Amino acid sequence: MSDELEVIKDYTGRDYRTVWHGPRAAFDDRFEGKLIAELLPSEPGWFVDVGAGYGRLYPLYARPDRRVVLVDYAVNLLEVAAETYSGQDGLYFVAANAYHLPFRAGSFDAGLSNRTFHHMAHPQAFLDELGRVLRSGAHAVLEYSNKRNLLRVVRYGDRACAGITRSTANCSSGRIPNISGSSPRSPGSRSIAPGAPAF
Ligand SMILES: C[S@@+](CC[C@H](N)C(=O)[O-])C[C@H]1O[C@@H](n2cnc3c(N)ncnc32)[C@H](O)[C@@H]1O
Repeated sequence: MSDELEVIKDYTGRDYRTVWHGPRAAFDDRFEGKLIAELLPSEPGWFVDVGAGYGRLYPLYARPDRRVVLVDYAVNLLEVAAETYSGQDGLYFVAANAYHLPFRAGSFDAGLSNRTFHHMAHPQAFLDELGRVLRSGAHAVLEYSNKRNLLRVVRYGDRACAGITRSTANCSSGRIPNISGSSPRSPGSRSIAPGAPAF
């Protein structure tokens, strides 16, 4: 796999903060925050957020008994995070491709990957890599956007499903089928529905 194929949604040069502007976005942000806070593992130690963006969710998992590593491909987003949380102890920023995490096996006690999994052309490779860097028995929260929900299908029709192969989602239910046996997508299937918003 070339890096070019692996990065499905490259946020480099984009200010992802703008997605979270406005009253509706503020509601979603709070709602999602509550859900994730409920699900987050309680273990202290090393915590990794893969596809952390500008560190929007950092306040949810930041704790004095944790060291946190924010990983993202987009350096500009990590720079925003570094600026926002400058002076925080035990916080590290790593620009890396989620398919090749630059950490030893078993490095982390807990983790999160939020709104990133649905961008992965090779979901199994990503899950394998996340599993590799987590220690045995560690928990991670994986939240992804179901692009094929009823609202999007009503709004965008067939385009709601465009560019998403069966290896990443199931068109009728939105769950991830046969994840362990999924095959890499073709280079031509990287884009999401034209005109549909990206999360
Ligand atoms: C929709 S944003 C979510 C950001 C953050 N998790 C949040 O919820 O605010 C998806 C993030 O995944 C990152 N990303 C996408 N593909 C990646 C890859 N292969 N390796 C590392 N980061 C990736 C993007 O740069 C972007 O910051």
